[in-house]
Amino acid sequence: MKRSAQFLALNLLMAGMLAVGSLPTNAAPAAGGSDDLRAALATPQDITEGKRVADASCARCHGMDGIGTAKGVPHIAGQRPAYIYLELKVYQTGGRGDTQMGNVVKYMNDDALMKVSAYYASLEPAQPSAAGGAKATASKSDPVSAGKAAAAGCAGCHGESGISKMPGMPSLVGLDPKYLIAALNAYKNGQRKHDMMKTLVSALGEAELNNIALYYALQKPGKAQTPAEGKAAAGKAAAAACAGCHGDGGVSGKPATPSIAGQDAQYFVAAMRAYKDGSRSDPTMKATAAALDETATRDLAAFYASQPPQAPKVRKPLTTAEWAQRCDRCHGINGNSTDPRSPALAAQKADYLEQVLHAYRKGTRKSPQMAAMSDVLSEEDVAGLATYYARQKPRAVVYLALPCK
Ligand code: HEC
Ligand code: HEC
Ligand code: HEC
Ligand code: HEC
Repeated sequence: MKRSAQFLALNLLMAGMLAVGSLPTNAAPAAGGSDDLRAALATPQDITEGKRVADASCARCHGMDGIGTAKGVPHIAGQRPAYIYLELKVYQTGGRGDTQMGNVVKYMNDDALMKVSAYYASLEPAQPSAAGGAKATASKSDPVSAGKAAAAGCAGCHGESGISKMPGMPSLVGLDPKYLIAALNAYKNGQRKHDMMKTLVSALGEAELNNIALYYALQKPGKAQTPAEGKAAAGKAAAAACAGCHGDGGVSGKPATPSIAGQDAQYFVAAMRAYKDGSRSDPTMKATAAALDETATRDLAAFYASQPPQAPKVRKPLTTAEWAQRCDRCHGINGNSTDPRSPALAAQKADYLEQVLHAYRKGTRKSPQMAAMSDVLSEEDVAGLATYYARQKPRAVVYLALPCK
């Protein structure tokens, strides 16, 4: 065996940080060690030989520079060496379902795969895309801030954070977004008759309604700051009949049934009247309201107004930046992986990233880690992340000489 310097591929800026002890650097490449790190430990001669393989088998699609220009062909220049090698083995066994790549590598031996991986890894990565995908630029900003802005005109009647300060105006905190959206649509389509609310709501699009509902659902709940005329103690006894649907103390667990804890008492009475006279239609509530006289209704209103509301169970959606922080735990800062086995995402083509994230979700590309991650991503998240990573500045891999034994 020739005495050539052994090389170690490291990510440029992270070279000092990577614990060399965690890699089997003191094992000669041929003599055992972890097989998947061979491409990361390639010699300059391996890289030169890899270049010949690339010329013969890969360049017609990936170019000699590893920059994908055709649609669907990813950049592979500067990709982490052990990752490239492992993916080529996956293609070899049909594990990624791409017949083009499968056919290319089917009959290549391990040595050639290792060397061609080292060659493409050693190249200068692609430039980050300036524009990225057009779709996802600013649109996936923060739905909660967008909701707050859209709800600015509602604050005069419904209170700053949805806690009513004006008798007759319903509080909007503590309501499940599904109920709130349904209520707004009911005004819009005239199912729920209220000319003023109809006018106010018909200017709003679906996305705005969703954002507004989310905004109120995430506000700190509090009781309406309005007076109640009835007797809460008397109302408490009568409320037993309502608890099955509206929950104990008026905190409903069901999205279609509104929480009524802490609700403005005057609005409460008006709502019961609306069910009774049919201007608001709901069969159960019509019967319920019809069975109650004015005093009993007021007492119930006073009881529920005195109950503390609770925030509905709604998770704040993550922004692209917040998602990316989670991805970066495995893929490195700004998608610059420091582990030669994990793919870098920085400056990768946005359309390819999107395609791959869909493949993980559908299960056509298999990875336990990525299946778990991609399952919870919305279409918007996928588009936003693909654009985000396509724009990140990539860090090259450098092969450092190690003293050989
Ligand atoms: C006929 C065109 C073609 C040829 C030739 C070709 N590739 Fe590919 N390559 C593709 C396409 C298309 C994809 C994307 C497939 C997918 O989505 O899984 C791909 C994907 C890859 C990937 C996965 C990248 C990633 O980030 O996961 C690697 C690595 C790769 N090719 C390396 C090579 C190497 C090395 C060769 C030569 C041995 C080669 N390819 C030859 C078309 C080609
Ligand atoms: C001028 C005062 C006013 C403004 C401004 C206003 N609302 Fe209302 N809103 C009301 C009144 C009054 C009702 C009760 C109507 C009824 O009896 O059905 C109501 C009812 C509602 C309800 C039903 C609550 C429930 O518990 O079923 C929702 C939801 C709502 N408004 C949301 C909004 C949103 C969102 C905005 C801003 C885009 C807004 N409102 C602006 C006065 C207002
Ligand atoms: C069988 C289930 C059920 C029972 C029992 C029930 N409700 Fe309801 N209640 C509902 C549903 C569903 C709605 C929403 C209907 C709609 O969309 O207008 C509602 C709506 C209301 C509203 C309007 C809230 C708002 O934000 O606009 C009030 C007030 C109310 N109920 C009070 C009561 C009281 C008081 C009782 C007991 C005397 C009671 N309900 C019993 C299911 C029930
Ligand atoms: C727990 C670690 C982990 C986390 C967190 C993680 N990934 Fe991955 N990711 C991996 C691994 C491992 C692979 C390689 C899997 C394979 O071989 O297919 C991968 C592969 C990928 C690929 C394919 C790269 C290529 O070149 O083909 C993309 C794209 C990707 N991840 C995006 C993301 C995004 C976006 C997030 C955040 C939402 C994320 N990942 C979070 C571990 C992780």
